[in-house]
Amino acid sequence: MKQTLNVEIKNYKITITDSDFSKTMEELNLITASQKRLFVVSNKVFKLYSEKLGLNKNEVLVLPDGEKQKNFKNYIKILEIAAQKGLTRNDAIIAIGGGVIGDIAGFAASTYMRGIDYIQVPTTLLSMVDSSVGGKTAIDMKDAKNIVGTFWQPKAVFININFLKTLNKRQFKSGLGEVLKYAFIEENCKYNQQLYLFEYLTLCCEKLFAQEPMTVMRVIEYCLKLKIAVVNEDEKEKGLRKVLNFGHTLGHALEVKGKFRKYIHGEAVVQGMFFVLNWAKKVELISYSYHRLAMELLTKYGFKEQKFKLPEIIEIMKKDKKATSDKIVFLIPCDKKKVKEVKFRPEEVLEMF
Ligand code: GLY
Repeated sequence: MKQTLNVEIKNYKITITDSDFSKTMEELNLITASQKRLFVVSNKVFKLYSEKLGLNKNEVLVLPDGEKQKNFKNYIKILEIAAQKGLTRNDAIIAIGGGVIGDIAGFAASTYMRGIDYIQVPTTLLSMVDSSVGGKTAIDMKDAKNIVGTFWQPKAVFININFLKTLNKRQFKSGLGEVLKYAFIEENCKYNQQLYLFEYLTLCCEKLFAQEPMTVMRVIEYCLKLKIAVVNEDEKEKGLRKVLNFGHTLGHALEVKGKFRKYIHGEAVVQGMFFVLNWAKKVELISYSYHRLAMELLTKYGFKEQKFKLPEIIEIMKKDKKATSDKIVFLIPCDKKKVKEVKFRPEEVLEMF
């Protein structure tokens, strides 16, 4: 049975569906009916889906895949093509792809003519549960991820889980890393009811790996409900939104160190979560039993702790955009499903391990 879930955020609608692509495109065409459009599409997605989506080549810019593509050159390319095609302030950029495409297309939309509409059609699990919602746009610089960007909310987000059928296993699992993040921060998110995501993820692991449609859609829905509760309260990351960076301080540094190949985003975030969970147990911020449940959950999803050279990673963490002048900022578990922000000088972090 085809199902559609709607999630409300302040000014736009998010649709989560397993219906045919033609239905998704119908809705997209409807809300852009009077607009000129530039579709920024990932190369892989274009090859696999351009016919199914009925994309018109004249409206499409295809970009190669990979974090390295989230760069200044491609950003300028999007702007130039938008200008060549005569997009005006009333028109729209539509991102079809994973987080890289969503971030760079969103950044271009937010700066072209001081900001035009953009619509997200995420095609990876990671972008469905996180980056397509909440309005963070960005490009990277050499040693620093997401260092140039804006907050610019999409006009709509269309999540069609049928894209996941062709997502490779590594990418799917990386998305699960970001899903697991929400289980550890549910209490911080102040959503108006308990979702029991930690428990749900413990129970639904097999169904999720088998991509049972309703389970996948529920998990996306729960993650987004938590994310939206946070973004509605703190869009510009002045306070509460920082909790969404759980696992990311060390995670981003590992991604940079491994040149975005050794670790892809969700894998790196899980390593960051292992790191702070162990740290929290060591300084008795969390109980032995919660630490154990947490480790069991990450292990159940096939993640294992990796070894790395902390001094090298600390050097990279110092450049993280979350770092203040002399301190590195971490989100560390402080209770069941709850994290808090802590700031340490690099030498203090080294002394602890
Ligand atoms: N991915 C973290 C955030 O949207 O704030």
